[in-house]
Amino acid sequence: MKVTIVGAGNVGASCAEYISIKKIASEVVLLDIKEGFAEGKALDLIQTSTTLGFDTLISGVTNDYGATANSSVVVITSGIPRKPGMTREELIGINAGIVKSVAKDILEYSPDAIIVVVSNPMDTMTYLALKSTGLPRNRIIGMGGALDSSRFKTYLSQAMKKPACDIDGMVIGGHGDTTMIPLIRLASYNGIPINQFLTEKNLNEVSAATMVGGATLTKLLGTSAWYAPGASVSYLVDSILSNQKKIIPCSVMLNGEYGLNDICIGVPVVIGSNGVEEIIDVNLNEIEKEKLQNSASAVANMNAALNTILN
Ligand code: LAC
Repeated sequence: MKVTIVGAGNVGASCAEYISIKKIASEVVLLDIKEGFAEGKALDLIQTSTTLGFDTLISGVTNDYGATANSSVVVITSGIPRKPGMTREELIGINAGIVKSVAKDILEYSPDAIIVVVSNPMDTMTYLALKSTGLPRNRIIGMGGALDSSRFKTYLSQAMKKPACDIDGMVIGGHGDTTMIPLIRLASYNGIPINQFLTEKNLNEVSAATMVGGATLTKLLGTSAWYAPGASVSYLVDSILSNQKKIIPCSVMLNGEYGLNDICIGVPVVIGSNGVEEIIDVNLNEIEKEKLQNSASAVANMNAALNTILN
C-alpha cells in the first residue's frame, strides 16, 4: 500500500524512514516544495535498503501531486517547526494556509486517502483539514496524542527505572505545553497502577516533563524533534494499513463525546483500516473532566483564529 508524506523536513523524513524500514507500506512518496529536497532525502533513504534489508519503493518529488496518486494514507508534516521559546500555537499564521492547500491538492489525486496531520498547532490544523475538505471525521487524524503518550511512558519508565515497553499510559487533551493531560491515574506498570511505585511528587514531575516534552527538545535541538514524532506516525500508519485496531490517543472531531462538540482534540480512539473506527469513552474523574474542558476551551480559542482562513 502507498503512503505519501508531505514535507520532507526532519519529521517527514523520519516518518518515511520508519515506515520504510519497518515495512509498513510497500510504497512511500516524499513530497516537498523545495526543489530537489525530497528527491535527495528519498535517494539517501533508498541507499540504506541493501544494508538494512527492506524493499519499499521510495521516491521523492518536488510539489508533484500526480506522483502521490492513489495513496491509502497521507501524512501532512508541512509548515514551519517551532524554534526555541516559541509555542506550537505561534505557528498558526503560516501553517494554516499551507495545510489547507496541501489537503486540497492531496485529495485531488487520492480521494479516498486517510489523512494524518502532524503540522502544528496540531489540533487546530486537524480541525482545519477536516473543515476545509469536508471529509468524514474518521478520515482525518491528528497525531499528537500518540507522541505525547510515548513521551509520558518514557518519562515514567525513567522515573521508575523499569523497561519502557512494560509501561502503559496515555495523554489526552490538546497537543500544547499547557493543554495536554497525562492520565496518571490510569497509567500502569504491567497492569499494576503506577502510583504504587512512584510518589505524588515523582508523578507530578513526570507529568510536568511530559507536558513540555516537545519544548525541552526544541530547546536542545534548536528546532522541533523528529525521531519520536516520526515513530509515532509510523505506529499510527501501521495500525491503519494492517487494520490493527490499536487504541491510540489522537486528535479527532468530537460530536458530543466527552461533552465536547465541534472540536478536534486528543482522546483515545481505535485506529484501523477505516481510520478512526471508534472513540473510546474513558470514565474520567471530576478533576480530569475539568482539565479536558479547560484544554478544549484553549484549543477552541485557537480554532477561532481560523475563521478568516476558512472563509
Ligand atoms: C513535538 C512536535 C512535533 O511535540 O509537536 O515534538
